[in-house]
Amino acid sequence: MKSQEIRTRYRDFFVARGHEAWPSDTIVPKNDPSLLFSSAGMVQFKPYFRGEMGDSLKRATSCQKCFRTSDIDNVGYTHRHHTFFEMLGNFSFGDYFKKDAIRWAWEFSVDEVKLDPERIWVSVFRDDDEAAEIWEKEIGVPIERIVRMGEEDNFWPAAGVLGPSGPCSELYYDMGEQHGPATGPSDDNDRYLEYWNLVFTQFDRQESGELLPLARKNIDTGMGLDRLAAILQGHFSNYENDLLRTIINHVEERSGGKFGFDEKDDVAFRVIADHARASLMVLTDQVTPSNTGRGYVLRRIMRRAIRFGLVLGIEKDLLAPAMEVAAELMRDEYPDTAERLDYTTRVARAEEDTFRTTLERGLNQLSSMIEKLKASGRTRLSGQEVFTLYDTYGFPADLTREILAESQLEYDQEEFDEAMEVQRTRSRESWRGGEVMWEVEDEALPATRFLGYDQLSAEAEVVALYVDGKTATEAKEGDRIEVVLNQTPFYAESGGQTGDQGRLVASDGSEIDVIGTYKTTAGVFHHQGQIISGKVSKGDKLKAEVKSSSRRTTMGHHTATHLMHAALRQTLGDHVKQSGSMVEPNYLRFDFTHYEAVTPEQLEEIERMVNHWIWENHPVRWQEVPIDVAKERGAMALFGEKYGDVVRMVEVLDDDSESSPVSLELCGGTHVSNTGEIGAFKIVSESAISAGNRRIEAVCGPVAVRYFQRREQILKSAASMLKTPPEELPARIDRILEQQKQTERELRATRQRLVSGAGGGGAGEPEDIQGRQLLINMFPEMRIDDLQNAMDQAIGRIKSGVAVLGSVSEGKLNLVCAVTEDLTKSLPAGKIAKTLAQIAGGGGGGKPSRATAGGKDPNAWPQIEEKARAIVTEGKI
Ligand code: SER
Repeated sequence: MKSQEIRTRYRDFFVARGHEAWPSDTIVPKNDPSLLFSSAGMVQFKPYFRGEMGDSLKRATSCQKCFRTSDIDNVGYTHRHHTFFEMLGNFSFGDYFKKDAIRWAWEFSVDEVKLDPERIWVSVFRDDDEAAEIWEKEIGVPIERIVRMGEEDNFWPAAGVLGPSGPCSELYYDMGEQHGPATGPSDDNDRYLEYWNLVFTQFDRQESGELLPLARKNIDTGMGLDRLAAILQGHFSNYENDLLRTIINHVEERSGGKFGFDEKDDVAFRVIADHARASLMVLTDQVTPSNTGRGYVLRRIMRRAIRFGLVLGIEKDLLAPAMEVAAELMRDEYPDTAERLDYTTRVARAEEDTFRTTLERGLNQLSSMIEKLKASGRTRLSGQEVFTLYDTYGFPADLTREILAESQLEYDQEEFDEAMEVQRTRSRESWRGGEVMWEVEDEALPATRFLGYDQLSAEAEVVALYVDGKTATEAKEGDRIEVVLNQTPFYAESGGQTGDQGRLVASDGSEIDVIGTYKTTAGVFHHQGQIISGKVSKGDKLKAEVKSSSRRTTMGHHTATHLMHAALRQTLGDHVKQSGSMVEPNYLRFDFTHYEAVTPEQLEEIERMVNHWIWENHPVRWQEVPIDVAKERGAMALFGEKYGDVVRMVEVLDDDSESSPVSLELCGGTHVSNTGEIGAFKIVSESAISAGNRRIEAVCGPVAVRYFQRREQILKSAASMLKTPPEELPARIDRILEQQKQTERELRATRQRLVSGAGGGGAGEPEDIQGRQLLINMFPEMRIDDLQNAMDQAIGRIKSGVAVLGSVSEGKLNLVCAVTEDLTKSLPAGKIAKTLAQIAGGGGGGKPSRATAGGKDPNAWPQIEEKARAIVTEGKI
């Protein structure tokens, strides 16, 4: 059953049961600014669930365009993850409840689309006896196929997401024993495919986490169209359904590659199929690629698709043609995908052109890294270098790995993972605080008085207010706003230190969640956030409270930056100067001038020094002084920075020597009062950023403790995997590596023997047919590269004729066909391979003298053999 038929049958089924068919909302939700994208069918119905729309609608059904950002990095690596997907749903607003929702889900599954009832499993929320009873008593699902699950699986949406929610019941389809053990649905068993989620929406989740009962009980169901299509079309993977496989077919044609033969290529096929479709849908709904918000997500997936295209050798014009194929698939349901195609493909082409230039620079950069690596006689690129390629040039690590492998090189994966983790944490933060949702109108205001050097809360008055970037005199609950106060303890992002988060509270209980603070060049502080309860007006008096946990770790990171700067100069020399710095709640980053890598011993010494200063608990003092005084005292200033006549000087005092403090810098940031508050200091990475410039990243206090704990967990789990105490790990790993080398040697020898057996006598004798020779044989469980080796030997044993060797690996059939030079015109190997592979439901091809192919069904071998014989008998194809 094709996907368009599924959409129609679903809609008709529920319309026949009293539902109103609703069109999909746009991917950018029309009425929910709290979301970047529509993430479920229910989003457009939230006001109906809350009862805000009266009784105007009782039942509805839709096929909703959805986009989820949480899984982008997983897309391609699994059969199920997507960015864009479609959700079929039926909804009840204070009308029918569990009984009908369950009954109709069952009838649609079993009677309408004819799923095998014996293969359907269901889950219910832990103590939802009512749902369990309906499934068992009224529907007749045997009790052993009804599983109870906890909040994580069977409550929607997950904790933390506000609004309509409730316990749910899910339908799973057993995809067959070849896909896993018969354990029943569980997180780690792919065999059971969850295809439908029935949510019994009866609560409204509040900010506090409280679940307020909704006045009426509702139903919200969601079925993944890609999943159902895969099931009904007899496939395990969503990427084999008619929607995604059609795009993959196009990519096969473009690249000359084949899907289903090599996992690395398959990842690329899946990424391109998903992201091209998603790009089309998001562009159609009028989002354009940019560096913030939705446009950023779009840009990310477009670039990711282009990069994975390189894995398949597609070096230009990847997106637009793939989007055209996707539009063909979507136009029946969403006609605007076709109507706007001219525009959307133009945007895609422009984005692709720009990105390819960047990518090329990345390739050049990598080539020079490889050259250097080779020249130094090493074989391992640092993880940090690979990360820089990824971060600066958008170069995927997979691609780097492949390019390195071509020269028998590799990179430090662990170091790369660490750098990635640091960046992820950082981007999570900046996503919250740094996302620019609008451009704020300009208004002439006096500079804000900053109180936050020694105060974390203060009374203040609202002097200006912006709603969605426009000046306003008042704002209400839910509004996303920017607030300007006459004075504030909130630090505004500057000098590398991140802006503060926290809340603004009025005496009537109104509350604003502040997610970031920035200041204009005129020194006006803007508190960005959302009113989570009540309202706020210009002139209101508020209490401004900085989130102290984040601010305290930020201050620790800032003072630690000064200490590290001092330690670097003492260890490496006075040439070390700060060239950039970032101070955040969860890490610090410090760039400095130095001409070579800092050695591990030097890094240890720097760590030791900084921690020593922390234990000694030096007082930290700051004061404003005339610039000349600061200069005279030797305070470190930033190169190229302009300073006013009066500067702020931050000093870490040394009790033993008043005249030579531990550190003395000009700095506008916030600091701890005593170094002991920093707690602990740990460097997590050191790397090059450009010639003569290095970067150190480090963590302090509670973040450092978490880092140590994570490291220890890794160590412990590695030790327990190898069943040895952690102290003995290195010796144990040494032994295992030695054993592995030994096993590899043996395996190589065995394969060598097998291959020479297969190609020589083992491949059987060539038969003579009509004056030509045919050598045909099949080897169970032989990898394609071994089969190729066997062919090298087999064809050498034939004077004039054809050799066909087959093997089965991972359940699929591989074919290699070779033809002696004299027959390549009449019997081209490419054609023979293709014809034979088709018998096994596959395809392939190659040169007239040699070709490879593959098929799905190894049982077709006898027919293949028969056909090969017929071809050689006839002497033509
Ligand atoms: N809202 C639920 C989900 O997304 C069911 O539609 O799974």
